[in-house]
Amino acid sequence: MQILRSVRELRTWSRTQRAAGKTVGLVPTMGALHAGHASLMRAAVASCDRVVVSIFVNPTQFGPNEDFDRYPRTFEADCKLAEEADVAAIFAPAVEEIYTAGAETYVDAGALSSKLDGGSRPGHFRGVATIVAKLFIAAEPDRAFFGQKDAAQVAVLRRMTRDLGFALELVVCPIVREADGLALSSRNAYLSAEERRQALTLSRAVHFVAALFAEGERSPEALREAARGILATAPAVRVDYIELVDWNTLEPLGAATPGALFAVAAWVGATRLIDNTVLG
Ligand code: PAJ
Repeated sequence: MQILRSVRELRTWSRTQRAAGKTVGLVPTMGALHAGHASLMRAAVASCDRVVVSIFVNPTQFGPNEDFDRYPRTFEADCKLAEEADVAAIFAPAVEEIYTAGAETYVDAGALSSKLDGGSRPGHFRGVATIVAKLFIAAEPDRAFFGQKDAAQVAVLRRMTRDLGFALELVVCPIVREADGLALSSRNAYLSAEERRQALTLSRAVHFVAALFAEGERSPEALREAARGILATAPAVRVDYIELVDWNTLEPLGAATPGALFAVAAWVGATRLIDNTVLG
């Protein structure tokens, strides 16, 4: 497995693969890799000849009071996991390699950027769209792999891919969970044992809503109230949002329909977690 540090190395690597007739898959990550990331790598390896995983804790998607400095950085373990998944290359640039001094150009995904997580994290999706566009430009992948776990991010990136005309396929992979239901997240490492226990209310809430929908409940208010009730049983949990939206536009829906996105975000102690389900 090759470790690439510069945009030029990544571009040369990718073009070499493609010149040899190989398809290239890209899995963008911020490292601290877990089984959720591993599922993306496996999906990529299954459908592309060569896979590159990027590991870059992207400063522009963190707010001033967020966890950029203490975000877990576990490069050695990440490389081991990627190697086990048959990944061909890791792209792990320094911040200055990506954001050259004086750079002023960003990618703004418009109205979607201020919805769901974008509402409580101003500037977050601008940072995400910018880094992913930079990765698409440098790696020129045939396919890029993202998790449904970050469902609003998927909506923003689908939109960006279409609006900017990137010639690639965006592949969305299902949420990987712990045995007890908790969605895997690099931020789960911040949770105390008690917070970890209370964090289970997020997955319980989305599973309960999925079950209510399957039984015929279609009222957004009833579904949101059901989720709110479950989250309210955990004293350390503070709701950020509970939303039923169209997965493409992130606009609230008047009635629950198959394919609708039901998403929750909540603070568990000092840690912000998200979870969701696509109904039907
Ligand atoms: P990160 O949080 O490291 O996640 C990288 C990818 O892994 C994302 O597409 C995310 O949705 C996916 N992922 C995370 N947890 C998952 C789970 N439990 N099941 C399935 N997939 C999961 O998302 C980012 O990084 C960044 O915003 C990034 C796109 C890399 C841009 O900086």
